[in-house]
Amino acid sequence: MDQSEKRLIFTAEDIARQVQRLASQISVDYQGKEVVLIGVLKGAFIFLADLVRQLSIPAQLDFVRLASYGTATESSGKIRITTDVELDLKGRHVLIVEDIVDSGLTTVFLREHLLAKNPRSLKMCVLLDKRERRSVSIPLDYVGLHLDKGFVIGYGLDCNEAHRQLPGIYELIV
Ligand code: IMP
Repeated sequence: MDQSEKRLIFTAEDIARQVQRLASQISVDYQGKEVVLIGVLKGAFIFLADLVRQLSIPAQLDFVRLASYGTATESSGKIRITTDVELDLKGRHVLIVEDIVDSGLTTVFLREHLLAKNPRSLKMCVLLDKRERRSVSIPLDYVGLHLDKGFVIGYGLDCNEAHRQLPGIYELIV
């Protein structure tokens, strides 16, 4: 992809500042507790790695991998789990770590899936809250950055599996 096809919207420094802010808030809120962070693969892998290293509370990690049918830039809302968590979440304080919430359908599906495992608490931490296509109301407990619209890549986010390695977040110009 050539430079003219993407526009930088959040620099690595912008992101790092928000990750630090979120980690501080989470560390305060979960003081005296042990949290299980569930990273949603693949998009949240960089965010989770940066976030967990800034926490000052005990944390355990697990991952879930979801697949949604749809195009490269739009989810169909039909979601399935391709890799489930391995830790027993019963009675645990669980924090979902997601890259981006768009329509919200993925989050609704994942929340229901994890609630069935009887955690003691379940909260949601998302790097990017993109509201344009939100079709369901969901509680987002920790939000890094807000985005009105557009399809973004970088910092773990992809378009057809490309661009995850970019240190900043770019809007894809189509
Ligand atoms: P939702 O179910 O519509 O909220 O979509 C959430 C999922 O769609 C995210 O976890 C991403 O995998 C993907 N997604 C939504 N918007 C973007 C984007 O702008 N860039 C990259 N992936 C996105």
